[in-house]
Amino acid sequence: MLFSHSPIVLCSANACEWLSTHGHLFLTNGTFTVTFLTSILSSLSQVPLELARGAIFLSTPNPRVGCVIATPEGQVLGQGHTQQAGGPHAEIMALRDAAANGHDVRGATAYVTLEPCSHHGRTGPCCDALIAADIARVVASIADPNPLVAGQGFARLRAAGVVVEVGQGAAESRELNLGFFSRMIRKTPWVRMKTAASLDGKTALADGTSQWITSDAARADGHAWRARACAVLTGIGTVLEDDPRLDVRRVSTPRQPHLVVVDSRLETPLDAQLFMPGRRLWIYAAVAPAERAAALAARGAEVIVMPGPGGKVDLAAMLQDLARREVNELHVEAGHKLNGSLIREGLVDELLVYLAPKLIGQGRDMASFGPLSALAQAVPLDFRDIERVGDDLRIVARLRGRDVF
Ligand SMILES: NC(=O)c1ccc[n+]([C@@H]2O[C@H](COP(=O)([O-])OP(=O)(O)OC[C@H]3O[C@@H](n4cnc5c(N)ncnc54)[C@H](OP(=O)(O)O)[C@@H]3O)[C@@H](O)[C@H]2O)c1
Repeated sequence: MLFSHSPIVLCSANACEWLSTHGHLFLTNGTFTVTFLTSILSSLSQVPLELARGAIFLSTPNPRVGCVIATPEGQVLGQGHTQQAGGPHAEIMALRDAAANGHDVRGATAYVTLEPCSHHGRTGPCCDALIAADIARVVASIADPNPLVAGQGFARLRAAGVVVEVGQGAAESRELNLGFFSRMIRKTPWVRMKTAASLDGKTALADGTSQWITSDAARADGHAWRARACAVLTGIGTVLEDDPRLDVRRVSTPRQPHLVVVDSRLETPLDAQLFMPGRRLWIYAAVAPAERAAALAARGAEVIVMPGPGGKVDLAAMLQDLARREVNELHVEAGHKLNGSLIREGLVDELLVYLAPKLIGQGRDMASFGPLSALAQAVPLDFRDIERVGDDLRIVARLRGRDVF
């Protein structure tokens, strides 16, 4: 459309759409102005971020990465984002896209939201593929925190004579991959605790009834947050009272998150709805009677024994274990007891709270911890985002300082 008569031909429909909706697109008497050329080149480093967002439900445990390959004049030759684990990374997708479109990428620039990998993981090193394709310049948002890469990708590219620039879009790329950065640097997942509550902060009636406090729209929105997580975690109290499935049903997703149950004495019923063919179910226990563990294993669960104080599960050790199992983002949907323990032990990074316009009065809290003896001991939060979803409010709040690592 707009591009057919212009000196710059953008091949990517996504890129065109992105540029036009982000106000970088303007024509003067049918030709692009020089300002546009400058604009398009700086915008090109933004397009991969939009592509990377397309991998949000898909690429775990790999980071969400986008890549655009363009000529020095800004003509897009190929683009792509990371595929499912074991599938091609963003750079390979962009190279394949260029080849499929019959474009020669020699001398081109690769704009990518993370340092190209330099190691043999499930796939071959992306920096070798860029070098082999004769890419002249790589504009990357941020270094890969994976110790197997961590600057070695850039070093390898530079050693091969590729010009490397780093830093544009670094904060956005890190934010999109906070779980991956957390797992690589802190060796624990990014822990997001979701609760649905009344305006007076109650998550269930005193008798435990909690279905449904928030609106249908809020529950559908909650499924999108489940979908982006590597794993959903709950407590045995919720399993016994609600028999939830905790899968993703309300949004389209190429994969289901794994499931984690904190169940000190292996009380998970063998006919619980949590058991689903093809989904990993990890049950963390404090004790594991052999017969019971075998019965749960026969249903497809893996029982992991991690005893902590008071005959409960050692939650900090569990998070480290989940990171070893390549969980980047952990989505918690539990009751007040487990939520309280996680907060008391300083293991929560972010709250995702849906607040319904109703009052419940006597009922169950979001998280049972305390009592605190002074307000100064309150857990400090920073509101990140507040939106209306259906009849409810959705609040994303981060525990202060948790994203500094
Ligand atoms: N509105 C919402 O957003 C929402 C979300 C989820 C659930 N809920 C509601 O929450 C209610 C259930 O709450 P709940 O508090 O009983 O269940 P829960 O928090 O899901 O599970 C608590 C159980 O986890 C086990 N556990 C093991 N290690 C633990 C540790 N280190 N710290 C804390 N707990 C540990 C304990 O069982 P052991 O005794 O075996 O050690 C404990 O009783 C249900 O009514 C459900 O509907 C509401």
